[in-house]
Amino acid sequence: MSSTDNIKVAIKARPLIQREIVEGLKPVWRIRSNSVYQTDDVGNRFGEIYTFDHVFDQDCTNTNVYTTVVSSLVESFMEGFNATIFTYGQTSSGKTHTILGSKSEDGLFDLVVKDIFHYVSATTDKKYLIRCSYFEIYNEKINDLLEKSNQALAIREDTKGNMILNAREAVVTNVAEVKEKMKEGNKVRRIGATGMNERSSRSHTIFHISLPGIKTVIFSFIQ
Ligand SMILES: Nc1ncnc2c1ncn2[C@@H]1O[C@H](COP(=O)(O)OP(=O)(O)OP(=O)(O)O)[C@@H](O)[C@H]1O
Ligand SMILES: [Mg+2]
Repeated sequence: MSSTDNIKVAIKARPLIQREIVEGLKPVWRIRSNSVYQTDDVGNRFGEIYTFDHVFDQDCTNTNVYTTVVSSLVESFMEGFNATIFTYGQTSSGKTHTILGSKSEDGLFDLVVKDIFHYVSATTDKKYLIRCSYFEIYNEKINDLLEKSNQALAIREDTKGNMILNAREAVVTNVAEVKEKMKEGNKVRRIGATGMNERSSRSHTIFHISLPGIKTVIFSFIQ
C-alpha cells in the first residue's frame, strides 16, 4: 500500500466483541510497529506482511488516532484545505465506532468538531459562517439525511469541475448544533442487523462541514 503526503492510510484494530468471545474466536492478526500479518492456529505467520503509515492496536482509543493522524488535518482545514476522514472495512470492523465513538469514548467526529470550534473561538479578527450537510448513499441513490423530501439527489459539476449536490445545508454556530445535525440524520439513516453486527450501517454516509474563505473548503467524514 502506498501513501503520499496528501493521503495517509492507518489501520485500527479493535478488541474482540462479546459475541466473538462467546464463540471462542481468537485474534488472527498480529501487529508489529506499522505492519500487520496473519497467523495460523499455533501463532505462526503466514501470508504477506502489510505496512501502513500507522497501525493502531486494539488498546488504542479514538483520541490516540485523533492525536496521531487527524489533528493536523483540522489545522490544514482551518488554513483553507479540504480534508477527509474515510473509514473503510468489512461489516463490524469498527468504522462507526471510530467516527461516532461510544458512551464512554468520543469519536473522531466529536474530536474534530470540538477542535474546529476551538479554532473559531480563538480567531478574533474574522467571523465564520459554518454549514453542514449530511447524506447517505443507499442502493446507489444519494439521499439527504437532513431533509426528508430531498431524495435521489443529482450530482452536477460547476464550470471548475467542483461537485455540486443540492443537499440541505444547515448553519451551525457551536459544537452542540453540529452534533444535533449528526443525530438528526442518524435517526433516518438505513441500518439493519448483519450476522456480524447488530447495528450495521446499511448505507454509506457523508457528513460535510463547510468553511467559507477565499474558497469554501469542506471537511468530510465518510463511513
Ligand atoms: N475500539 C473498539 N472498542 C470496543 N468496541 C468496539 C471498538 N470498535 C468497534 N467496537 C464494537 O464492535 C462492533 C462493530 O463496530 P461498528 O458498528 O463500528 O462496525 P462498522 O464497521 O461500522 O460495521 P458496519 O459496516 O456493519 O456498519 C460494535 O458493537 C462496536 O461497539
Ligand atoms: Mg457502521
